Amino acid sequence: MTLRAILTGTGSALPRTRVSNAELADRVDTSDEWIVERTGIRFRHIAEPDETTATLGAAAAKEALAAAGLEAADIGLIIVATATPDNTFPASATKVQALIGAPDCIAFDVAAVCSGFLYAVSVADSMLRTGAARHALVIGSETFSRILDWEDRTTCVLFGDGAGAVVLSAKHVDDDQGILATRLHAEGKYGDMLYVDGGPSTTGTVGHVRMQGREVFRHAVTNLASVLGEVMTEIGLSPDQIDWIVPHQANKRIIDATAKKLGLPAERVVLTVDQHANTSAASVPLALDLAMRDGRIKRGDLVVLEAMGGGFTWGAAVLRV
Ligand SMILES: CC(C)(COP(=O)(O)OP(=O)(O)OC[C@H]1O[C@@H](n2cnc3c(N)ncnc32)[C@H](O)[C@@H]1OP(=O)(O)O)[C@@H](O)C(=O)NCCC(=O)NCCS
Repeated sequence: MTLRAILTGTGSALPRTRVSNAELADRVDTSDEWIVERTGIRFRHIAEPDETTATLGAAAAKEALAAAGLEAADIGLIIVATATPDNTFPASATKVQALIGAPDCIAFDVAAVCSGFLYAVSVADSMLRTGAARHALVIGSETFSRILDWEDRTTCVLFGDGAGAVVLSAKHVDDDQGILATRLHAEGKYGDMLYVDGGPSTTGTVGHVRMQGREVFRHAVTNLASVLGEVMTEIGLSPDQIDWIVPHQANKRIIDATAKKLGLPAERVVLTVDQHANTSAASVPLALDLAMRDGRIKRGDLVVLEAMGGGFTWGAAVLRV
């Protein structure tokens, strides 16, 4: 028997307001055609003032708990991956803890931008397997609309708000169920290619997203294909054994190019970027929840998660759901 972190539930939450490309083109110098052709994005959800990273994260967490058949009191660890916390501190994880009514437990945030969920899953996996908790809530939640420069058409059309959550439970198993491998990377020398131009310790302001789009695109395809190869090699599986890949939903062209590099057919790729745009740390758990709920991903499937983001940071995880 092996102690593993098993996926026992998923959930997600989206802000009430959905904005189409055409609606965006009313306030920004862009067009539906340009956005669809370059990114595959058609809609994004934008948070209203009463919808925050913590409230969206808590709503997704409640869904994931219900799917797992657990109560908030069962949770011993809450990790929120976010680059857009409600406040500089306390951590959004402690806000989520209070909102869902979870008693004293471990709660903290992880900041690795778009690959934050992969970092959080990897940390939770390690903590569950060393006995720090029996059940963990791992949440990716973002309100990126709050840090977008709405005058900068090269970035503001690409992002959206939302949250996704999973419950991971430590269980002794005698098969290959659960998280089988995770792999994380960071290369800080590329920090100025995708960043926010403000922060508490520098400008004392929140700042706005800045990006060198073409460079990010190029690094994303190379790094994602390489880290996917690493996790598959680690567990001795080949890409044709993957049932589903749930990629970070930044750009359909990045997703297509990465899948092609690995020889994965489009039918095995979960795609939500058209509906949600890039929700940063929320994008992978949001897409995972949708594909679990609509029956595409079934119990027993081999699923690969991957993401790349500012830093640069990137990572991948393989699990049998
Ligand atoms: C951002 C991205 C879609 C831009 O596509 P691109 O093909 O590289 O386009 P460019 O930046 O070279 O711009 C091409 C033209 O479109 C214009 N343009 C940029 N944004 C536009 C918009 N929203 N609407 C209309 N035109 C736009 C540019 O001004 C430029 O015009 P010019 O040729 O007259 O100067 C692409 O680089 C990309 O997806 N990068 C990765 C971004 C990403 O996923 N980041 C998050 C990773 S976590």
